[in-house]
Amino acid sequence: MSIIRLDLSECPYPPSPKVVKVISDSASTINRYPKMLGGLLPDALTAYTGKSKEQIVIGNGSDDLIELIIKIFTHPNEQILIPIPSFPGYWYAAKNLDKEVIFVNRDNEFGLDIDSILQKITSKVKVIFIANPNNPTANLIPCHILAKLIQQVNCLIVVDECYYEFSQETVADLIDMCPNLIILRSFSKGFGLAGLRLGYAITNAELASRLRNSTQLFGVNTLAQAAAITVLTDLEYYYAQIEQINKDRTNLRRGLEQLGFDVYPSATNFLFVGTEKLNLSSSYLEKSLQNQDIHVKNCGMLPGLDDFYFRTTVGNYKENHILLAKLAKMRVQ
Ligand SMILES: Cc1ncc(COP(=O)(O)O)c(C=O)c1O
Repeated sequence: MSIIRLDLSECPYPPSPKVVKVISDSASTINRYPKMLGGLLPDALTAYTGKSKEQIVIGNGSDDLIELIIKIFTHPNEQILIPIPSFPGYWYAAKNLDKEVIFVNRDNEFGLDIDSILQKITSKVKVIFIANPNNPTANLIPCHILAKLIQQVNCLIVVDECYYEFSQETVADLIDMCPNLIILRSFSKGFGLAGLRLGYAITNAELASRLRNSTQLFGVNTLAQAAAITVLTDLEYYYAQIEQINKDRTNLRRGLEQLGFDVYPSATNFLFVGTEKLNLSSSYLEKSLQNQDIHVKNCGMLPGLDDFYFRTTVGNYKENHILLAKLAKMRVQ
């Protein structure tokens, strides 16, 4: 049996036939450098986002843009604030760039504790990273709560909407009113291009220009540009696929709940699962599944969590079925 990878919240399906074709057609041109700054992709994204191309910055995955934002908008001794649990990419990037990180716990349902955040903000805090929906907890903070926070602080707020295609919730309408807001999006999740590395930021023209001026001229490769432009012309295909993943998520949730796990509400392509009720540690569960060639993500080592949480991607029908069967066996041992 080949390895079942449910640990990286990837799309379980290959790209659409149109996207595969354009990648294969473009392959014969890669002796040439890619078009600069994403070529025609920012234009293609204007229709999808409703924002002008001056407000869009393309990066080599949203990971690239996370690092760029920290690099440009913080000086030595300045700080990044992150409500936790959240996506480790933020503090990995901050640590790589020698920036200090402040963690603030989310509330019991993984919502934002706005008062605690406000208490921790000093003039040294320059950027707050909020994944919405959040990874790994999968929940969505309502836009009006984010708006309240964005309008109360002076520092930059990055709202990472990497899972937007699943949640369909965005704070993009606030961009024109809030000069401190940057939104991040990705082609890795709903659009299944994780291996090509493509993300983008949406913000006001001034911040976008500062970001763009610091990106690499050839930072986004030819195949990624061609594939992403074609994804945006093939949205019906992708929306149908996302609908399928959302349906499979409901079935996987039901299966996990029947086995006695706590499954949290999800606006993403993964489920966040509590194991404490079953007295199963998530480190044991991860190892045991790994020994059977199934990879899920133990979240027990993340700041803000203990050893009773894991995250699993919603895989395809067969993968979900095998996962549930293996977990059922583990539970009776
Ligand atoms: C919240 C969040 N932001 C950013 C990323 C990185 O995405 P990309 O593949 O676009 O670098 C991930 C990947 O899992 C994520 O979950």
